[in-house]
Amino acid sequence: MKRTKIKDILLKDSVDYKVNVKGWVRSFRNNQFIALNDGSCMSNLQVVIELNNDEALLKRITNGASISVDGMVVQSQGKGQKVEVKAETIEILGDCDPEKFPLQLKNKPSLEYLREVAHLRFRTNTFGAIFRLRHSLAFAIHKFFNDRGFVYLHTPIITASDAEGAGEMFRVSTLPFENPPRDEDGGVNYKEDFFGRCTNLTVSGQLEAELGAMALSEVYTFGPTFRAENSNTPRHLAEFWMIEPEVAFNDIYDNMDLAEDLLKYVIEYSLVHNREDLDFLNQRLVEEEKQKPTNERSEMALIEKLEFVLNNKFERITYTEAINILVESPAYKKKKFQYDVKWGIDLQSEHERYLVEKHFKKPVIVTGYPKDIKAFYMRQNDDGKTVAAMDILAPGIGEIVGGSQREERLGKLTERMHEMHIPTDEMYWYLDTRRFGAVPHAGFGLGFERLVLFITGMTNIRDVIPFPRTPKNADF
Ligand code: 4AD
Ligand code: MG
Repeated sequence: MKRTKIKDILLKDSVDYKVNVKGWVRSFRNNQFIALNDGSCMSNLQVVIELNNDEALLKRITNGASISVDGMVVQSQGKGQKVEVKAETIEILGDCDPEKFPLQLKNKPSLEYLREVAHLRFRTNTFGAIFRLRHSLAFAIHKFFNDRGFVYLHTPIITASDAEGAGEMFRVSTLPFENPPRDEDGGVNYKEDFFGRCTNLTVSGQLEAELGAMALSEVYTFGPTFRAENSNTPRHLAEFWMIEPEVAFNDIYDNMDLAEDLLKYVIEYSLVHNREDLDFLNQRLVEEEKQKPTNERSEMALIEKLEFVLNNKFERITYTEAINILVESPAYKKKKFQYDVKWGIDLQSEHERYLVEKHFKKPVIVTGYPKDIKAFYMRQNDDGKTVAAMDILAPGIGEIVGGSQREERLGKLTERMHEMHIPTDEMYWYLDTRRFGAVPHAGFGLGFERLVLFITGMTNIRDVIPFPRTPKNADF
């Protein structure tokens, strides 16, 4: 018989038909009731065994074992489910030794512990919910752009440029580490390397996306990006996924609207399509909050927070206004910030979170950052000091989106590149877009894992990507 997914049986809610189900045992009570899960949804299917005297078989139905069941879908006698499967035959697909099964041995395994048992993370309710949501969000993002006529552009993973100019790149090379070929000056001779030059893993697909936008008008990338910054924080990964739309003819205001629309669209999508998973995560957080002292508890539960963000316009302020708010804040006056605040600083996570969580209590879009703390490609404002940058700050996360209107004026752009020691000759392919029919354009990058963090209410970015890459951690 063909396998039926548990989700479909539970959704269909009808009875008296035969099915085959396959999955992993979540629990087995009284030698009679199996809670079976196949990952298609949060809920387990109850499988009932009646009068089975096959002791040897019953012994092998343990937590974590995988089984195949043929049986009849019937109305459930018990509470908690409408339908259940009355088993006719049960086949063990894979045994799972209860004496050794880590999820059995640990009562309520911690998130930290689960990070170390990669294959089993997926078997828990929490990670099932997170990864179903992650999938759904990726799908919603593609749908959002597709519905608006954007072209999905696959930008390269191996590049020769440092788009952000931050120099935090992983080198890609086939040269021997121990004894690389040398040039006349004793430096590594990259002419002999695979690509005949020095290359790295991309930190952003933006520059290539700009080339696409200069002909296709609306493009976006959605791919892995890599940063060798040594930030061991709950918000940084060395390998993360980024969504980068780039739109010809858009200015900074259109850019803000697009980003706000995208965030609201995917929040709404998840509320509609992933309700069961969100309800579970909501409840999980409610329980977690109860452990905290009252003054540290969040004001809103997860779903309430998502609905609030969905239904309220994001606050829009300039960097200068943000600095003024911070300097005037009780937190600053009571020296609660670790980092100093004055015009020109890069906002630290503590500052961003103060603005969002304490001051405005909603997402904030900050524009007009000092040019000295932003990338070379951002459009220079007339004041000579700031650029048309925009960061979106989200509650519990800090920066979730970073973007800008781009400097489309060739003269201004090359001047800025010289000031920042960015080689213009190597970047001829990028500068060409400003030579042949340049137009105003804008774009942004949304960190996918930060988005998943925000929507799941998780607090560590390692818990929202299946295989996190962080400093000193890439075992599996
Ligand atoms: O602000 P960033 O560095 O901007 C860019 O890369 C631009 N090229 C984007 C553009 O305009 N097309 O990164 C964009 C976003 C951040 O706001 C953050 O959400 C995420 O990417 N991000 C990270 N996420 C996880 N781990 C890291 N190490 C991240 N660095 C940035
Ligand atoms: Mg940024």
